[in-house]
Amino acid sequence: MRITLPWIAVIGLLGSAGPVRADYDLVVKKNCLACHYVDKRKYGPSFQQVAAKYADQKDAADMLAKKIMTGGAGVWGEDMMPPQSQVSASEARTIATYVLSLK
Ligand code: HEC
Repeated sequence: MRITLPWIAVIGLLGSAGPVRADYDLVVKKNCLACHYVDKRKYGPSFQQVAAKYADQKDAADMLAKKIMTGGAGVWGEDMMPPQSQVSASEARTIATYVLSLK
């Protein structure tokens, strides 16, 4: 499941490649889609839900970049996001900016 799912997502996206394609590829490569979908809740919140929640928060990109690397729980429920140590600080920042652009 963890291996096949991102590829299904890639195939689904081939028809709708847009300007954020490279950033989407990064969340595929970093296995974020094991727990997140862009447009609907999976184990974690959808990236669109995240974008909507922080739409008005100025430091959201920094805050989310940090959370991506260190993980956490309690914002969207009791489920916990493990630290994503495969993500570098600059990748986390790129992904956070991408997620926030999805609103
Ligand atoms: C094992 C499952 C899992 C994986 C893998 C995972 N997440 Fe999460 N993620 C969660 C859960 C659960 C939450 C909700 C945490 C909370 O309520 O604080 C979450 C929350 C988030 C949030 C919102 C944080 C907030 O404070 O509002 C973002 C952004 C996010 N994840 C991005 C990512 C990215 C990017 C990756 C890949 C590098 C990733 N996640 C991988 C489970 C996961």
